[in-house]
Amino acid sequence: MTGEEIRQAFLRFFEEKGHNIIPSSSLVPQDDPTLLLTSAGMVQFKPYFLGEAIPPNPRLASCQKCFRNTDIDSVGDPSHLTFFEMLGNFSVGDYFKREAIAWAWEFVTERLNLPPDRLWATIFLDDDEAFNCWQEVGVPADRILRFGERDNFWGPAGDSGPCGPCSEIHYDLGEGFGCGKPGCQPGCECGRFLEIWNLVFTQFNQDREGRRAPLPKPNIDTGMGLERTAVVMQGKVSVYETDLLAPLVARIAEILGRNYGEDAAADHAIKVIAEHSRGIVFLIADGVLPSNEGRGYVLRRVLRRAALFGRRLGMERYLETVAEAVFQKMGSVYPELAEKEIDILTVIDDEEKRFDETLDAGLSHFNAFLEEARGRGERVIPGESAFKLHDTYGFPVELTTELAAEHGFTVDLEGFEQEMKHQRERARAARKFGLGGKTEVAIYKQLGIQTGFVGYEEHRHKSSVAGLVVNGEPVGEVSQGDEVEVILRETPFYGEMGGQVGDSGEMHGYRGRIKVNDTVRPLPELTVHRGQVVEGEIFLDDEVEAIVDSERRLDIARNHTATHLLQAALRQVLGGQVRQSGSLVAPERLRFDFTHSAALTEEELARVQHIVNEKIRKNLD
Ligand code: SER
Repeated sequence: MTGEEIRQAFLRFFEEKGHNIIPSSSLVPQDDPTLLLTSAGMVQFKPYFLGEAIPPNPRLASCQKCFRNTDIDSVGDPSHLTFFEMLGNFSVGDYFKREAIAWAWEFVTERLNLPPDRLWATIFLDDDEAFNCWQEVGVPADRILRFGERDNFWGPAGDSGPCGPCSEIHYDLGEGFGCGKPGCQPGCECGRFLEIWNLVFTQFNQDREGRRAPLPKPNIDTGMGLERTAVVMQGKVSVYETDLLAPLVARIAEILGRNYGEDAAADHAIKVIAEHSRGIVFLIADGVLPSNEGRGYVLRRVLRRAALFGRRLGMERYLETVAEAVFQKMGSVYPELAEKEIDILTVIDDEEKRFDETLDAGLSHFNAFLEEARGRGERVIPGESAFKLHDTYGFPVELTTELAAEHGFTVDLEGFEQEMKHQRERARAARKFGLGGKTEVAIYKQLGIQTGFVGYEEHRHKSSVAGLVVNGEPVGEVSQGDEVEVILRETPFYGEMGGQVGDSGEMHGYRGRIKVNDTVRPLPELTVHRGQVVEGEIFLDDEVEAIVDSERRLDIARNHTATHLLQAALRQVLGGQVRQSGSLVAPERLRFDFTHSAALTEEELARVQHIVNEKIRKNLD
C-alpha cells in the first residue's frame, strides 16, 4: 500500500464504523495557549474532551499534520520525525477500550493484513481491562507487556490538558533487525520493534501542577503514525525508504549531486534535509514566519539546520529547490500548499539568504571560540560566546550546541540563558523609558483617576482639573511657563493608542491658559494632556474648557480611515495572508506595517495606490 492508500483505508474503515472524517487542522493550534504547535491528532478535539464544546459526532477520525520539536535530535534515525502525519480515531464519551482495541486490531490484521504473530501490545501497569480486551481479540498473554507512566501514560500535549493511560501496538520487523539478543522485545531501544499505533484512554484533565481530575466522560484518542505504518506495509526499514519520503530523498540527493547510499555522513545530511524540508514548508503554509521566539523560532531553527547541513555538502541557497520537491510530492493531498507556493518559497529563500550572509562570519567566530576554550584547557563554549553567535550571527543555540558536540565540546547553556535574560531586561527598560516619559506609571496609579472620553461627539468640552503633575510629582497649582501634565475628569482629547497619535489643542481656565502639545494614555482608563502653561495659572479642581485642534484631529481621522483602505487594497493585491503588524497614524502621514514575504514590486505598489485613491475619490459615506 502507498501512503495515500493507507490514509484512505484508515479513514474509510472508521467511516464505516460511524465516524465523521474531520480535515487536518492547522499546525498552529487555535486558541490554545498551552501549545506552541499541533503535536497530535487530538489537539483540535481538546474542547470536546474537556466538555467545553459539542462535537458534530461523538465519533471522529482524521489524518492530522503534526510537528514535534522534541524529536529533532533523533531526526535521521529510521523512525523519528519532526513533521509527520498521524491517523487517528476519537471517541468523545462514546465507545471506550473494548471497541478501540477491537477496531484497531481489525484494521491492522484485516485491512492492512499484517500477520498477527508480528504484533505485540503494551498496556499501562495495572490496566487489566485492556489486557483482557487484547486477549479477547487473540493476542497471546506473553505478547501483552505492561509498562509504567513513562511509556504507557500519554499526555497532556502541552503543560496541561486531557491525558490518560494508553496501550500501543508494536510491529516486529523481524529477527534480522536490532540487537539480536534473546530477550529482545518491545521497549528494547534497538529498533527491531516499531511502535505504530497508540490508543489513549483519555480519562483525566491534568493541571499545570500535575494534578489529575477525571474528565466529564472517558474518551478515546488514538494515533497511528502514517510514515511508520508505511515502513511496515512497504517492507522497508526506515521512513526514508517509503513512498512518502523516498522521492524527496532522491530529489535532494540529485540537487546535492550525491548518490544516496554511498557515504554515511552525506546520507545522514540528506535525510535530515528531506525531513526538515517538509516541516519548513508546512509551518510556513500555516502562517509561521521565521523569528526569534515561539513558533517562528522553531521554524528558524529547522530551516537554519537544513541550510547548514546543505552547506556541509557544498550547497548554498538551495532550500527553495528542495521545497519545490515537497510541493510536487504533497501538493495534491494538502491543497493549502499550492495556494501559497510562491509566498512559501520566498520566505524560505529570504531566510536562507539572511542566514547565509552571516554564516561564514559566524562559523569563523565559532571556530575562534573553540580555539580559545582549548587554549584555556576547557571543552566548554561560554554562554557569552553562544549568545554572541545567536545575537549577531543568527545561530540558534541548539545549532551551536550541535556544532560543539561534533568537536566533543559542550555549551554553557546556563550562561547563555543569563545573557538572554539580560537582553530581555535591557529591552524592557528601553520600552519603559519611551512610554511613560519622566513620570512613573506608579504616580498615575497613585492618583487613582479615571478619565471619561467624550471626543467622538465633541471637540470642545468643559470639565474640571482632576490632577496636575510637574516633573513627575503631583502638584496643586501651576503657573505660566510650567511644563505640565493635566488630567481632567472628562476630555474630548484622544490619547495616543494603537499607533494613532494623541490630540493637541488648548485648555482655558478663568485664570489661565494651557497649550496642549500631546495626549497620552499611560493607563487604559487614564488620559494625560502634556503641555505648557502659556498664561496665568491653573489650580486643581478649576473648571477649564478643553479645545481640540479640530483640523489636526480630522487629518488624523482621515489617515486612520486610509490605513483601513490600504490594508484592504494590500489584501486584494497581495493576498489574504497580509496581516497588520503595526501602524502609525499622524496628521500629516500614516505608516502601515504588515507581514509579507517580499518587498512590493513597482507594479504592485501602483495597483495598491490606484485602489486606495479610487475609493477616496468616491467620497463614500
Ligand atoms: N495523542 C496520542 C499520541 O499522540 C494518540 O493520538 O500519541
